[in-house]
Amino acid sequence: MSLAVTILHIIGASLWIGGLVALLIAHKGMDKDSIRRTALASTAGLALILVTGLINAGKYGGPDAWFQMGTTPGRVGEKLISWLIAAAAGGYAFHKLPSQQDSPRAQALLVVALLASLGALALGVMLTRGA
Ligand code: HEM
Repeated sequence: MSLAVTILHIIGASLWIGGLVALLIAHKGMDKDSIRRTALASTAGLALILVTGLINAGKYGGPDAWFQMGTTPGRVGEKLISWLIAAAAGGYAFHKLPSQQDSPRAQALLVVALLASLGALALGVMLTRGA
């Protein structure tokens, strides 16, 4: 069960990060509809990450343990914070890009979302290794 949930978690992460990278590299050459479709698929990945992550987080205790920063279960809280930063930055960029493809702020926020997501990914690797 937990393996299937972890596989879904990684599929979600691939969709989300793949969408961010695609938009970062190619949004200037894409039409509005393609940007919207890519952003929608990416957002579905972001939602899948949260649901599957919370299901698997049960094995590291509950919210009390998750927010003991610096401990192994505390990685869950650190991942949740990274997810929130990624969601806020990516959400802003996804709303702005279809109408303003050359917005420097939207492009910068795509980079912020990508970095926060790679941070969450690294924390996931640490978590599964007990670090
Ligand atoms: C953009 C955000 C995220 C990315 C890219 C991400 C990515 C990953 C990856 C790649 C792994 C597997 C690491 C490995 O097997 O070595 C993992 C593990 C894990 N993630 Fe995330 N994650 C994200 C957000 C979250 C969130 C929000 C939660 C829940 C609060 C969460 C909970 C977990 C848990 C509990 C594990 C360990 C699963 C286990 O021990 O089997 N993740 N994450």
